[in-house]
Amino acid sequence: MKQSELDLFTTSERHQAIWIGKSSAVLPLFALAEVETLLPALRQIIRAAPLRHMITPGGQQMSVALSNCGDLGWVSDRRGYRYTPLDPLSNQPWPALPEVLLELAARAAEAAGFAPFTPDACLINCYVPGNRLSLHQDRDERDYSHPIVSVSLGLPAIFQFGGHQRSDRAQRVSLSHGDVVVWGGEDRLRFHGVLPLKPGEHPRLGQRRINLTLRKAGP
Ligand code: SIN
Ligand code: FE2
Repeated sequence: MKQSELDLFTTSERHQAIWIGKSSAVLPLFALAEVETLLPALRQIIRAAPLRHMITPGGQQMSVALSNCGDLGWVSDRRGYRYTPLDPLSNQPWPALPEVLLELAARAAEAAGFAPFTPDACLINCYVPGNRLSLHQDRDERDYSHPIVSVSLGLPAIFQFGGHQRSDRAQRVSLSHGDVVVWGGEDRLRFHGVLPLKPGEHPRLGQRRINLTLRKAGP
């Protein structure tokens, strides 16, 4: 499509939500306009709080490398899953949530019918080809009335969006660079995961996929 044709669409039409549940939507390319502001901010965060492979409570090393920014960061170790105000690697607070991400998350949540939304935690997941995330529920947050906003960058992935039981059939949703998924309300505790990342080379992020999961985890 030529730029002149794109200009005929309003922003909301270009980001037309695709509903994948009663209270869950994919917002195609919703984050694209912010990517060039987001990437340098992420680079700075990862310099202060490096990506690392955490250990699950069962003693397995996670294949996905992760870090966090915001007042709270999600961590896993032999003691369990939880949110902490300090990065256990440095014992320093996690880097601040950049304004561009706060604002993007609030706008995405609003587009899916959840306003206002002020996240205090952003999990940064980095996948390389072959990495997957098995079906799970996000249930370490204090209050499930807040939605989850998930931003995909880099290599495309297949997101699995299941039901309230692990055994429920999961929809497969293709997520590309700049896509945002929002789920909350009655869908807040639905199982979800990511199928093994296919090899590829993304022009901006190379052989990687980065997912940013924004949540309100604390009080
Ligand atoms: C997650 O569920 O924590 C991440 C989902 C994704 O990478 O898209
Ligand atoms: Fe999750």
